[in-house]
Amino acid sequence: MSTAKKDYKRVTVKSLVEMKANQEKISMLTAYDYTMAKIVDGAGVDVILVGDSASNVMAGHETTLPITLDQMIYHASSVIRAIHRALIVVDLPFGSYQSDPKEALRSAIRIMKESGGHAVKLEGGKEVKESIKRILNAGIPVMGHLGLTPQSIYKFGTYTVRAKEEEEAKKLKEDALMLEKAGCFALVLEKVPAKLAKEVAESLTIPVIGIGAGNGVDGQVLVTHDMLGMTHEFNPRFLRRYLDLYTEMTNAFQKYVADVKSVDFPNDNEQY
Ligand code: KIV
Repeated sequence: MSTAKKDYKRVTVKSLVEMKANQEKISMLTAYDYTMAKIVDGAGVDVILVGDSASNVMAGHETTLPITLDQMIYHASSVIRAIHRALIVVDLPFGSYQSDPKEALRSAIRIMKESGGHAVKLEGGKEVKESIKRILNAGIPVMGHLGLTPQSIYKFGTYTVRAKEEEEAKKLKEDALMLEKAGCFALVLEKVPAKLAKEVAESLTIPVIGIGAGNGVDGQVLVTHDMLGMTHEFNPRFLRRYLDLYTEMTNAFQKYVADVKSVDFPNDNEQY
């Protein structure tokens, strides 16, 4: 089913830049645990993001803000144990890099050392430039994240499309260029107009991976639980659901309850 142009035994940050140069789109999905990561990696997804969206989908928080560095390290180490091919990018959680560049470096080092992740991702533009530089100087690859940056949700007030106005679009373009110049190996653009995202992708040599940013970018990322239809309250326009696991799983659990109640399970072949 894959339409990959080159067979990568192991995806690295260099492979992603090469994919962009070869006009091969990059596939990226989230994972937070061993079992899911094994399936995602085995299916040939290029990049697995251990996103701070774990705060929402794994822990049930309303925002990504509460998840801690220790919790991100726990999720990332579970993912790392499962994978053979994908590049593993781990989100630096809210509060672990915003205060000063030294703290940002300490947090990134903890992620790399304690989880075995391959790169970190952090949100923001020029406000976090010094932190990015410090992390890069330590030899840790950094992925940027612009547009809708959920860690700043209380500043924005809503999860609506970003950079529709000229001024915000201009800042986003400047930040994207700054991230490339600083040495980021890739950039996530979340929920921005497709035309703007295409323009940014065309102006950079590093890959731009979009979520709700149209198809003019160099790759796509979705939250795995959303694309599998395990979550069903969240329905943004950009989300394509590949399964309806919420219904499938509910049916399976209901059938199990009925089988236990009716003593249909376990049957003669299912016991010792
Ligand atoms: O945490 C996450 O899952 C993300 C993606 C939405 C890009 O940052």
